[in-house]
This record gives sequence, structure tokens and C-alpha cells, in this order.
Amino acid sequence: MTGIYLDHAATTPMLPAVRDVMFSCMTGGFGNASSLHGFGRRAKATIEDARATIAEAIGCSPREIIFTSGGTESDNLALFGAAALAQGKRRIVTTAIEHHAVLHSCAQLERQGFEVRYIPVHKTGQLQWEALERAIDQDTLLVSVMYGNNEVGTLQPIARIAELARQRNILFHVDAVQALGYCDIDLSALPVDLMSFSAHKLGGPQGVGALYCSSRVKLGAQMFGGGQERKRRAGTENVAGIAGFAAAVAQSLQFREQRQQNARLLRQMMQDELARSLPEHAFVVNGHPDEAERLPHILNVSFPGISTETMLMRLDLEGIAAASGSACSSGALETSHVLLAMGLEPEVAGSAIRFSFGDGNTEREIIAAARTVATIFKSLRNKS
Ligand SMILES: Cc1ncc(COP(=O)(O)O)c(C=O)c1O
Repeated sequence: MTGIYLDHAATTPMLPAVRDVMFSCMTGGFGNASSLHGFGRRAKATIEDARATIAEAIGCSPREIIFTSGGTESDNLALFGAAALAQGKRRIVTTAIEHHAVLHSCAQLERQGFEVRYIPVHKTGQLQWEALERAIDQDTLLVSVMYGNNEVGTLQPIARIAELARQRNILFHVDAVQALGYCDIDLSALPVDLMSFSAHKLGGPQGVGALYCSSRVKLGAQMFGGGQERKRRAGTENVAGIAGFAAAVAQSLQFREQRQQNARLLRQMMQDELARSLPEHAFVVNGHPDEAERLPHILNVSFPGISTETMLMRLDLEGIAAASGSACSSGALETSHVLLAMGLEPEVAGSAIRFSFGDGNTEREIIAAARTVATIFKSLRNKS
């Protein structure tokens, strides 16, 4: 495929080291990790090596890692697994801007009789602290807040929430799917109970992820079958996927700073070039204005007067892949719940485009993409 890929928050190209590890697993080590023979033992050893690599990278014990089929399953396992052992507590607290893997799980838990409180956010996308403090009480089982938002990149005050939750004896789940690979996650210093990860956001394969589950926490299994993953997640493990995930984590640890800097540079370059190529007030940047309070690889921009769908289609015709950020698995775009929760006017929310950068992007691509956006903008404006 040729073109300019600016949708790394949706998925990333697989790293060559990941591909190599997976290829050798699939061709040389095809055993079932539950089998007692040599093939099985080798597969098991591959999984345990991967578990140790990932655990070391995020500062936890290997026993605290549960491999899953990705971020969605990890979020589901965290929420439904905690709810299964609620011991009478009926309240869950989350934010209005979580990924649908959390929000739709919460909606299902509401149907099962739980009360869910959705904390509003400021215009920057950061949660309203006082509202969080007010929302939690002795009936609260779990607080679930994402590390960094997948649409606008805003980071949440995870360490501060973790302290609060621990003081009040409430479980704390963090969806860190977009953060792994860009943020320094050290669970030995962070009192979080559950944390979700996904391999394909950092150069690993699609369809594999992990849930960190602190040894303090008991989780009700959501899949029933074999005794894999210490009876917390039944099913034959995706050995090649897990090995690929660990290879991606190892690389991201080695190159994290470089990757952060590169993404920051590309993001700024895109924003500057848009400003140079477009008339004043033609676009607004959504999210947190402070670099320290956002993920480096996501730039969310609105072009009021031009719908998200129109801009995305025109960009696609020019070979540029960007996104709306909101769920569009049905093919139809909905206005982003994240941008609406941030209080953006419907016209601003309905014209937002998410550009997300990755290792393979070059400065030339970014300049070309920004200029193409400007050309499309001007041609559409001239028509209206
Ligand atoms: C913040 C966040 N959580 C969860 C998910 C779901 O992860 P997966 O695609 O691995 O199911 C995503 C994917 O975009 C995400 O961005």
C-alpha cells in the first residue's frame, strides 16, 4: 500500500523484529502450551519468556500478567471480573470520555443492576477532580479511568487517582492501551490494581493484549474452559502473538524516548504547516494545550464548516489515512462522544480529524499531508 499513514492510534504497522519472532514461532514452535511433551513445553517457555519481558517493562511480577485477545477483552475482563466479585458494592465510577470497550461494558453492568457514574471532563479532556471526589463513596467497587485518550491524547492524573482510590479501598482500573510505548509505566510505584494493554498499538500484532491484575486483587473469570492464565482466562494461548507482543514491548522500551521525541516533532510540524497553509481561524486544535499533559503522537484538529466525513473521504482519495477518532465500525460516523463531553460546539466536534503519528512517518510526509489538507479545505470552501 502506498500513501501516507497517519492513523497509528488505530493500529500500527508491525515492527520487523516482531514479524521475525512471530514467523519463527509459527514455523518452528507450533506446540500447544498445555501439552506435556517437548513441543508443548517449548510453547509454554515462549509464553513465560514473553510474560517476564512484559512484566519487567512495566514493573510488576510475571504472575500479575494475564494474556488476552487485546485491549477490548482486557477492559471487559477488568470490569466484569471485578463486578463478579463485588461483595455487595454496586457503584462503578468512570469518565465520559473512555473508549467504548469501557463505556459499553459499563452500560452492560448498568443493565445488570450496577450504578455507573460518569465523571465529566474539562475542555482540555482532563477529568473534573471535584466531581470524582464527590462521586466515590463506600459503595464504590471500582474506578476506571484511561491513561491517555485515544481521540485527543489528553493524559489523566493517574497517580493522583490511584492514591485516592487506594486510600478509600476502591479498586482502580486504567485503560493504558494508547499509553504503553509512549509513557513510562512503572507499576511498582503506582498503586493501580488493573491495567489494560494491547499489542497492535505499539508495533505488535492485532488480536493480542494483556491485563495487569495486581496480586492483591481477585478477579472473577469471564471465560470458562481450560485452566490457562492461572484460571483467569481460559483458552489456548496465542503463542506467536504473545511472543510478538513481548518483542514490541522490548523495542518500545529501548526506543521510547526517541519515539516520543519523533512523534512530538511530527505533531508540531503538522500543526505549524497547517497554520502556514490555511487562513487564520480555519482550524482549532482539540485536547490539552500543554505538552506534558498529552500523548505525543495524537493531533486532533477541527475544520469548522467541513464535516469530518467529507474531509476524511477527500484525504483518502489523496492517499492519506487519518481518522475521526470516534467509533465507525458500522461504516457510519457518529459525532465523537469525547469531543461532545469536552464541551465542544457540535460544529467543531462534527468537523474533527485525528492525525496520529508513528515511527515510519517522515517530515516530508507530514508537510505533504498538511498541504493536502489545506488544498482540500480551500476547494471545499470555494464551493460553499
Ligand atoms: C484507549 C483504548 N482502549 C481500548 C482499545 C481497544 O483495543 P483493541 O483494539 O486491542 O481491542 C483501544 C483501541 O483503539 C483504545 O484506543
